[in-house]
Amino acid sequence: MPGRPVPSRRTVLRSAALTPVAGLGVAACSPGDDGAAPARPTAPVDLGTDGEVAKGATKLYQDQNVVVSRDDEGALKAFSTVCTHAGCPIKKLEGTKLVCPCHGSEFDARTGEVLHAPATVPLIELPVEVEQGRIVARPGT
Ligand code: FES
Repeated sequence: MPGRPVPSRRTVLRSAALTPVAGLGVAACSPGDDGAAPARPTAPVDLGTDGEVAKGATKLYQDQNVVVSRDDEGALKAFSTVCTHAGCPIKKLEGTKLVCPCHGSEFDARTGEVLHAPATVPLIELPVEVEQGRIVARPGT
C-alpha cells in the first residue's frame, strides 16, 4: 500500500509494551453491574429539589453515587457511595445504613463511618449545599 509504511517488528513490540493493560489496578471484585468502576462525582452534581430530603431524612441517589442526609436542624451532609473497601457502588439504604452488595460492608449514611467490616475507611464526604432551591453536591477532596 503506497504512502503507508509497514511497521517493523520492533515498532510493534515497543507499542505493545507501552499500551496500558485494562484491569490493572482495579479491584478483584466486579464493582459495577456493567463492569465499569463507579465514579465519585468529578463535577458539581444537581441532585434535585431541596424538598427531596426532609429534616431527619436520608436519601440515596444511586445513579450519582451520592447519599444525602439532613439533620434535625436542617443541615445537609453528603457522602460518596463508592465503597471504600474495593470500590463497589452501594445501592442499598436501610434506614440510615448503607449496605455494600459486594462483601457486606456497612456504613452510617449520616456520618460515613464504617459500621461493619471488611471496609475500614469511612465514606468520602462531599461538600453539599442548596443553590437556587436545588441540592448540589461537589467533588470531595
Ligand atoms: Fe467490598 Fe464494598 S467493595 S464491601
